[in-house]
Amino acid sequence: MAEISKDINRAVEELTAGNLIGFPTETVYGLAGNAFDETSVLKIFETKNRPAFDPLIVHTHSVTEVEKFVKEIPAKLKLLMDAFWPGPMTFLLPKKEIIPDLVTSGLENVAIRIPNHKLALELLASLPFPLAAPSANPFGYVSPTKASHVNDQLGNKINFILEGGDCQIGLESTIVGMENGKVTVYRLGGIAIEDITKIVGKVEIKSHSSSNPAAPGMLKSHYSPSKRLVLKTAFQEIKSDFRNVGFIGFDKFHAEIPAENQILLSPDGNLSEAAKNLFSVLREIENRTEDLFIVELMPETGLGKAINDRLRRATVKD
Ligand code: TXA
Ligand code: MG
Repeated sequence: MAEISKDINRAVEELTAGNLIGFPTETVYGLAGNAFDETSVLKIFETKNRPAFDPLIVHTHSVTEVEKFVKEIPAKLKLLMDAFWPGPMTFLLPKKEIIPDLVTSGLENVAIRIPNHKLALELLASLPFPLAAPSANPFGYVSPTKASHVNDQLGNKINFILEGGDCQIGLESTIVGMENGKVTVYRLGGIAIEDITKIVGKVEIKSHSSSNPAAPGMLKSHYSPSKRLVLKTAFQEIKSDFRNVGFIGFDKFHAEIPAENQILLSPDGNLSEAAKNLFSVLREIENRTEDLFIVELMPETGLGKAINDRLRRATVKD
């Protein structure tokens, strides 16, 4: 198992030696390595069992650093950076040569993010290189939102996890870029579409494709937990086949299922709270005795859209 502590010096030591660490951010925990070091980057793909065609996000601590890594920042994206960084938004920008092709899987754009997490920013500021970090889960599994989640799945493959507490957002970052002069959203995430629209007007959303070349990681079933999970709309037909059915709801219990088989993402009806709890709950149900869980979609506003995106992916098989 990995050592879990708040010791930044230990994190620096591991990363400098070319090792990977569990890296806390406000969205989800990352599996981080030196983005300038191809050997470290290769280890990330290996450790996650991730196909090499699925590129990595580079994390840094200031826009001055970002300017060293990219050729330009389009004006509209700069507006979004000013509004949402540090925070749960990742930008696709044309990379300079300093970023290894391995990080971007040979694409011309690099994905960059400044996370809004005190310890993460302190670590990034004390390193002479940025950190490449995908979510710290084996490929195809839900993202970790606690240090213990990382330890459960990758603790035998890394020495150290920087303890940054529970992730405050709980959903991965919103990914944006420019396509044909338009601000385009490639992954729904921690910043809601409505908030982006307030800054730059209408945007294109391209996050629903099952084979999206700009964000190859967004495969339809990318977030599948191993426990069978179905959307509530299928409840009637499912009920007759399974005796032991559980329910994941937003703020209200399901009338036909025993209360002890139910989990609410936010009894107060708060979408931010639901987002924060989502991945923990998807992990928790794997260890429960119910045969399957029925899950209800959230209201399609604000973070509800990103939560529903993850739920739809989690309920798709193949
Ligand atoms: O919140 C987050 O974004 C977390 C934390 C750790 O920062 N990271 C994360 O990374 O979710 P990952 O690797 O699990 O998801 C990154 C997504 C993938 O779908 C990948 O395909 C896409 O970003 N991506 C990365 N670089 C890209 C690029 N150059 N062009 C297009 N898509 C890219
Ligand atoms: Mg991921």
